[in-house]
Amino acid sequence: MDKGKKEGRYLRLYAQIADLMVKSPDQTSKMATIAAILYNKMDYFFWCGFYRLDGSRLIVGPYQGPAACQILEGRGVCLASVEQKKTIIVPDVHSFPGHIACDSRSLSEIVVPVFDSTGKITAVLDVDSKEPASFDETDGFHLERIVGLLT
Ligand code: SME
Repeated sequence: MDKGKKEGRYLRLYAQIADLMVKSPDQTSKMATIAAILYNKMDYFFWCGFYRLDGSRLIVGPYQGPAACQILEGRGVCLASVEQKKTIIVPDVHSFPGHIACDSRSLSEIVVPVFDSTGKITAVLDVDSKEPASFDETDGFHLERIVGLLT
């Protein structure tokens, strides 16, 4: 998807998600709504969902797409995002040491940390694509803005 189209799509989705967040009573319903909207409106999103931080491991939360790993521990892109407290873009998952492959069809990935109001990470948003190098700074910027609606 070209940059202009991607920008426009994310801006429209942000407005739609922001409106629904006001009507969502808790974090689970908010996360489920974000995953559903992103997965259904961004055609290169093959898997899209949340992992919640539980001590030193991550437990799968609301998501859309093929069934995923239930628990992530010890390694992987999601835990790297938690440890580095920042968004990680992986153009080629096979080149990321320790990448956890929940589905061999995933070729590129972006992971965005979710912060609470005190600045602690509570979860991550993970998105996978079946194409290499699907994600760039535009995805990073807008997905960070969207998960900011959870805070
Ligand atoms: N690839 C992730 C695991 C989660 S799945 O992509 C849904 C990782 O390396 O942490």
